[in-house]
Amino acid sequence: MEDKYEKISRLAKRRGFFWQSYEIYGGIGGFISLGPLGVGLKNNIIEKWREVFVKPYRETIVEIETPIITPSKVFEASGHIEHFTDYIVECVKCGRKFRADHLLEEKGLTGLEGLREEELNRLIAEKGVKCPECGGTLGPVSKFNLLFKTTIGPYSEQVGYARPETAQGMFLNFHRIYEVMGRKLPLGIAQIGRVMRNEISPRQGPIRLREFTIMEIELFFDPLNPSCTYLEEVAGERISILRYGNREPIKIKVVEALEEGFIANEWNAFFMALAKKFLNYLGIPDDKQMFVEKGPQEKAHYSSQTFDQVVLTERWGWVEVSGHAYRTDYDLKKHMEYSGRDLRAYRFKGEGEVRKVLQVKPIVKNIIRDFGKDKLPAILSNLNSLDGRKVVEALSKGGLELNIEGIGSIKLNNEHLIVVEREEKDYVERFLPHVAEPSFGIERLLYVVLEYSYRERKGRIILSLPKELAPIKVAVFPLVKEEGLCRIAKEIYGKLKKEGLTVILEEEGSIGKRYAKADEIGIPFAITVDRQSLEDSTVTVRDRDSWRQVRVNIGELPKFINRLLREGALQALEQPSRYPP
Ligand code: GLY
Repeated sequence: MEDKYEKISRLAKRRGFFWQSYEIYGGIGGFISLGPLGVGLKNNIIEKWREVFVKPYRETIVEIETPIITPSKVFEASGHIEHFTDYIVECVKCGRKFRADHLLEEKGLTGLEGLREEELNRLIAEKGVKCPECGGTLGPVSKFNLLFKTTIGPYSEQVGYARPETAQGMFLNFHRIYEVMGRKLPLGIAQIGRVMRNEISPRQGPIRLREFTIMEIELFFDPLNPSCTYLEEVAGERISILRYGNREPIKIKVVEALEEGFIANEWNAFFMALAKKFLNYLGIPDDKQMFVEKGPQEKAHYSSQTFDQVVLTERWGWVEVSGHAYRTDYDLKKHMEYSGRDLRAYRFKGEGEVRKVLQVKPIVKNIIRDFGKDKLPAILSNLNSLDGRKVVEALSKGGLELNIEGIGSIKLNNEHLIVVEREEKDYVERFLPHVAEPSFGIERLLYVVLEYSYRERKGRIILSLPKELAPIKVAVFPLVKEEGLCRIAKEIYGKLKKEGLTVILEEEGSIGKRYAKADEIGIPFAITVDRQSLEDSTVTVRDRDSWRQVRVNIGELPKFINRLLREGALQALEQPSRYPP
């Protein structure tokens, strides 16, 4: 029997949500193309994410866009060149390559994430794993880097990589956005964009892709002031957490999870609560989602604590749809080290801190006497940038040698300079912010939304998409293709389009077939113009999920449909559908 994944894949292809790319050349694993409905659904998921994570927090969280192609130096600094790897094994007979942990999973082993080379080799030998394609012997495991490599411009030495996460764009631009936003922390930088990962042998449709879209926020906060400005808003939210090493998840309020020390910081806890609500909006109930804490060997190299938000699917069990990492100051520290740029934020101290500074003061009269008036400006400007301690040291050893452009080498002594100590107040302290990151993969969300809205009734498919996510909101049908009915249907179609709704008008085919298609692609409401419409200017409005309908005055349609879409409640639709379903 077909499972849900097969059913959804067939529907997705037939109706234009998604399908495997490069079909006419035989297809390549790990790439999917989205059709008109797939793009519509994806855009609505993105918009919902913005509504939940970004728009209400505009004073703190802003969105940016940075390039995909990235010079190699960035990923040397971020650690992706060294750590963004999986272990592969090659069949010595047919040369095919596989992910070592996947072959072991197929033998029923679990908890393999983070295992090292020797352990994988030992398990492969112990379990007698052979090549799944030809039965040949497998060679030893080796590391494979998942970054897609390219060259930038015509120079082969200018190596670049496609980004595997958008996050580095936020770290590289942190300081600029920090300045733009008025040097305030906390500061969240969001980005939605394409990323690429050269997965070894992806065979799970939209669940494991080599090219996909992610929505991420890097939230920068002062580690001495780590409180989340908005925690109160989600204080009552309960989430399910499976802690590392535990067998059963616990259901707990986010604030309690913080108090217990289960979640390392308030911002990650806040985003986890939003993530749970976001999935609720996408049609995933609480008991079909949870947060799984990753073990020390399983976490990404940059993270000090990670939770995967997982959703239960029929074929693959729990599937990760978002990651919640506490990245500390790992990335900024690395980029500061590799770029030599100061990426620190400022902490302003109200009182100021008194510190002693040494100031170098020239004795102008004597400098003119020994070097001439014309050289004075150049000598003075050179003295400006000198470190007081170094000058004191040089003078105590017999003189300060300066090499001045246009003048050459000169030596100054106690007759030309004095060094005085004075007190200064410092109001600024520099530090590296810490980072909390929620990161969502859109194609996986798109798949789970389809899986959770897929229903069958009386042998027919209904895609009960949450109304906000439905790519098409209303279908308008004349009951039969007659001039009078078609004219009214066209008028209604035009009116609803003007309201900003995505509407389709279909005149061809039996009304039953048109309803069936509308249900399959998740259109929440179908409006039908029949002969009664000619007499009393009313039409029927049919509900996708209950197949019930009401008669509504044509003039009231825009208000009525908008209310239904907004409130989602259909109690008004009392009568069973008059036309065949
Ligand atoms: N930025 C999160 C990830 O790479 O998965």
